[in-house]
Amino acid sequence: MHTAICDLFDIEYPVIQGGMAWLGTAELASAVSEGGGLGLIGAGNAPPSWVRQQIRSTRERTTKPFGVNIMLMSPFVAEIIEVILEEGVPIVTTGGGNPGVHIPRFKQAGLKVMPVVSSVALAKRLERAGSDAFVAEGMESGGHIGETATMALVPQVVDAVAVPVVAAGGIGDGRGLAAALSLGAQGVQMGTRFVCAEECVAHPRFKQKLLEARDRATVATGYTTGHPVRCLENRLTRQFMAMERDGASVAELEGFGEGKLELGIIEGDLEGGSLMAGQIAGLIKEIKPAAAIIREIVAEAEWGIAKLNFFVHNHVVFEQSP
Ligand SMILES: Cc1cc2nc3c(=O)[nH]c(=O)nc-3n(C[C@H](O)[C@H](O)[C@H](O)COP(=O)(O)O)c2cc1C
Repeated sequence: MHTAICDLFDIEYPVIQGGMAWLGTAELASAVSEGGGLGLIGAGNAPPSWVRQQIRSTRERTTKPFGVNIMLMSPFVAEIIEVILEEGVPIVTTGGGNPGVHIPRFKQAGLKVMPVVSSVALAKRLERAGSDAFVAEGMESGGHIGETATMALVPQVVDAVAVPVVAAGGIGDGRGLAAALSLGAQGVQMGTRFVCAEECVAHPRFKQKLLEARDRATVATGYTTGHPVRCLENRLTRQFMAMERDGASVAELEGFGEGKLELGIIEGDLEGGSLMAGQIAGLIKEIKPAAAIIREIVAEAEWGIAKLNFFVHNHVVFEQSP
């Protein structure tokens, strides 16, 4: 399976690991890149020194391409951009906003830029600014989300731009990859599935909670702040939603949320911490090495596409077969 996104990033398989705050460390990013996908260091709100150290540590573990995800709500965006340029990272993705003002600098330095977008309008604007590709991320995703579901968003972004589009949100196995390719995407980005990679530094209690999650385990909070977030439902999300219902101000809500992501996904406080995760959590049943996750997803998608082809050409009725 080889697509335009493989050529763009010089990777073997069209599978990208979302640059997750706290979890997109050198361990996970290098394991994904070594497995033939694209690993991303998640800068999140981390200081620039941490990002530099993760870049160097990733380089010690793999010679394959990898990138850095800049979370645009971080207070350190300007410094992190300097680190990325100084360290010669070849690929940048962005989340949580509009990276338009930064794109010219990256392009001058020869980097490939792939913003995460949740609307057609932003994709069009950022294509004019020089983006090389987009992640079209639906509201099924874990973490910060937009309003449109992956199934509706991806084909609309694909039709609106000329550069390759990667689908994200609600993808966890080969059926999801095959579906994304059918929608016109050139690959997939997964976050929640890679939280349950062996190399991911997420707390074991958080990983276990994901394995036990069902289809309706997540909720989206924070619509009143303008920055909704999808997480596993727990005491924290219930408290947060109660505060929103009672008319808490954005400052109060942001203050309440501070430090909660680390508490949940790194320290393993399953009720008091934030457990960012997507709706696909219910599909994940095993913790595996990242390379195995990638291999299985690609093989399952290839098999699924071949099977569909057979069904279509032989007028066979679809069965619920594995
Ligand atoms: C714990 C967690 C943290 C995340 N942090 C970021 C982030 O810092 N920047 C970003 O662009 N996306 C972030 N995301 C989104 C992922 O990169 C990815 O696009 C998303 O998880 C895809 O949807 P899925 O969860 O259904 O696979 C995060 C997701 C999770 C689950």
